[in-house]
Amino acid sequence: MISEQARARIDEAISKLPARRGALLPALHIVQEELGHISPETARELGELFEIHPVEVMEVVSFYNMFYAEPQSRHHVYVCTNLPCSLRGARVLYEQLEAHLEVDENGNTADGRIHLGHEECLGACAYAPMMRVDDRYCEDLDLDKAKRALEELE
Ligand code: FES
Repeated sequence: MISEQARARIDEAISKLPARRGALLPALHIVQEELGHISPETARELGELFEIHPVEVMEVVSFYNMFYAEPQSRHHVYVCTNLPCSLRGARVLYEQLEAHLEVDENGNTADGRIHLGHEECLGACAYAPMMRVDDRYCEDLDLDKAKRALEELE
């Protein structure tokens, strides 16, 4: 259930925009920060708040890879496998990390600590290969450097 604090932040976002619906993306960020993902129940609540059908909320959730419809691991690790990073070994690095972390078919570790996934270009091609660990960029990677970055995660 969306908290009163989150609702207040959403109301503030709505007040800054000419159309209520324009605040849906900020609202999804606020709610996901609080609840970890956007469940069907949350989509129903947001639908009421934005006067749209819950399916429209879930359409937005499924369009952007930064929003999650399912409970997630505590940390998100995305290896950029776009062309410049791949030319510098990102796809091999991704496979090495898959094996090192022993992720399941959805990219999750058994302990719920890490979700590993691919990412499109993150604008750091000059530092390829790179990956995003939550909100932090890790660049000029090799397997040892990537492992060290992941060891810091709780
Ligand atoms: S291709 Fe990897 S950051 Fe641009």
